[in-house]
Amino acid sequence: MISEKTVQEIFETARVEDIIQDYVSLKRRGVNLIGLCPFHNEKTPSFTVSPAKNIYKCFGCGKGGNAVQFLMEHEQFSYPEALRHLAGKYGIEIEEDEVSPEERLRQQRADSLFLVNDFAKDYYQKQLFETDMGKSIGLNYFKERGFREETIKKFGLGYAPDGRDVFTQTAKQASYDPELLKQLGLTTEFGRDFFRNRVMFTIHNLSGKVVALAGRIMAKDVKAPKYINSPETEIYHKSKVLYGAYFAKGPIRKADECILVEGYTDVISLHQAGIENVVASSGTSLTTGQIHLIKRYTSNVKVLFDGDSAGIKAALRGIDMLLEQDLNVRVVILPEGEDPDSYLQKVGTTAFQEYINGPEAKDFILLKADLLLKEAGSDPIKRAGLIKEIVSSIARIPDPLKRSLFVKECSRLFEVDEDLLINETNKAVASQMKRRQQEKEIERRRQQRMADRARQQSFPGIENDFPTQEPGYFPEEDHGFPPEQYPEPVQEKKPKQSSATGHEFQEKDIVRILISSGGEIYDKEENITVAAYLLENIEDVIDDFDNQLYKAIAHECQELLAQGKEMSSKYFLNHPDQKIQVLAVNLLTSPYEFSENWFNKWEIFLNQKAPDNNFKKDSHKALMHFRLRKITRICEKNMKKIKELSDAGDHEEAVRYLQVQKKLTDIRNDLAAQLGAVIIK
Ligand code: CTP
Ligand code: MN
Repeated sequence: MISEKTVQEIFETARVEDIIQDYVSLKRRGVNLIGLCPFHNEKTPSFTVSPAKNIYKCFGCGKGGNAVQFLMEHEQFSYPEALRHLAGKYGIEIEEDEVSPEERLRQQRADSLFLVNDFAKDYYQKQLFETDMGKSIGLNYFKERGFREETIKKFGLGYAPDGRDVFTQTAKQASYDPELLKQLGLTTEFGRDFFRNRVMFTIHNLSGKVVALAGRIMAKDVKAPKYINSPETEIYHKSKVLYGAYFAKGPIRKADECILVEGYTDVISLHQAGIENVVASSGTSLTTGQIHLIKRYTSNVKVLFDGDSAGIKAALRGIDMLLEQDLNVRVVILPEGEDPDSYLQKVGTTAFQEYINGPEAKDFILLKADLLLKEAGSDPIKRAGLIKEIVSSIARIPDPLKRSLFVKECSRLFEVDEDLLINETNKAVASQMKRRQQEKEIERRRQQRMADRARQQSFPGIENDFPTQEPGYFPEEDHGFPPEQYPEPVQEKKPKQSSATGHEFQEKDIVRILISSGGEIYDKEENITVAAYLLENIEDVIDDFDNQLYKAIAHECQELLAQGKEMSSKYFLNHPDQKIQVLAVNLLTSPYEFSENWFNKWEIFLNQKAPDNNFKKDSHKALMHFRLRKITRICEKNMKKIKELSDAGDHEEAVRYLQVQKKLTDIRNDLAAQLGAVIIK
């Protein structure tokens, strides 16, 4: 792991404008720089970079952050990858932290597996380009299929010679561990080469490392399987890999669409023709892991189906999963007997593009309805069954607005009453919701058991060392309504901005002020900062934060204060905890969302300090609201306790609690009076 010290150094050194200028051309406007946003299509620039704050923000699409976040978003780097990139650029030496022995071992094992796979890939590639057999058999095969040399190189294609154990022997001579060769499936249990007389495909992970290999037989009509693939290993989890994703991730984000095909050769062929936003599920039906991978880059998927209609209906069922994950799915069925590769080679790029972008690209639900209708003909019983089928697909769409559009369209197609369809859909939504909740509950219990077990095993006696995931820790994932209400039936409106406990807003406001102006002076005479004022006044309820991230920040501020350290928004914008960075960016920019004169506001916000008394008013008010919520809750808890005690006949204790209650109510009423709020109860 990169040490905290290095992370800090990187943050202090990296200039957001330096980094962004590598990708976006920026113009100066006032003290800021502006340019066309690289994350969405726009004609007038709303992408703003503030060298002073060392952050960027797009007022068109809302993306914002520091240099690290820019690289993560733009280059699809992981967090450590982005840090390493910056360290490289600025010549910062990376100091690694001690990692646990298990983690180190795991990392070492993974590294050596990658090393062996990489050797194998190089070997097969060398065979393809440098040996007579490779050239005459393998390279010829690829060239006949229309693959150019640069494509072959880019995708790491190769040739596995036809011998008993030529590869295995070479690897051993180069001192690769025979055990690892077996583990990776490159050598069989009997010491033979696994891939023999096949053309080879390399399977990369998202950062371009070789996780697996696949070999295609060249002869037609033989009994052996067409493709053989590396087995699952510590570095290869088939269900989480999409072929071509390493090359496609950038293009997918740019096109805001992912084209999904079945075969390795389809990916390569399309890519070669300049259609680069394409990945393959490698013949299996899609998994949730693969869908999550796609969702990192886009929410639009276009599935290209081979035109051998037998499999289409079965495959459509797999697509329901894409709907469930809230992806927009379009489907293109290729002409009879064609797959994406063959069709592209047959008609050429332009015609192919026209085909997949034209009317042949059908919305999934409507296509399914169409197919089902054709199948059912005029048989009324079949038609009734088919309504159930289509409704079950529609019900998977989380967005109620989208659902109602499909309901409308399908009622027209099926010639059934819209209300009936709404009714059926709502029923299906409810039952799917129930099923999902049950699944979630089972999963929650499973995780709980695992955490319990791990706790017992590694830290007997120490309770709090294990981070259990508490709700509300990830504010950016908060959809603004409790998960149990999701998805809701058609026609109902989403409840606006609520949270599991209802305290979210007040908590967030306190944190917003701590981050944006915690270091400012609240009272000149007493020389106390805004943070000191706030924290002193919430000390009694600081552990009552419901949101764990906000709580962590409040505690951290206490710590900073105690150590007499400076508190500034910069500190949070460059915080080593990424969640805090993201939150800081959002809190510092969100009140000024997209409006007509956003630019002026942004400029003011960045460059002009609000007048002193604004901090004062702002933080005082936020504080009152926060306290009111917390105190009210404590009042309620206390009341409950009183009731319990008196029900149990412990009147003496109940009286003690009553006295507390009196004090609490006084505080609460006082707060309410100051805020001019009305208290019911
Ligand atoms: N596949 C596999 N094992 C098989 C057959 C297929 O793993 N025995 C996977 C491969 O990932 C393959 C995909 O399923 O790419 C689609 O299969 P298919 O359409 O038969 O292969 P193509 O890649 O289209 O190969 P080609 O164009 O050479 O026929
Ligand atoms: Mn195919």
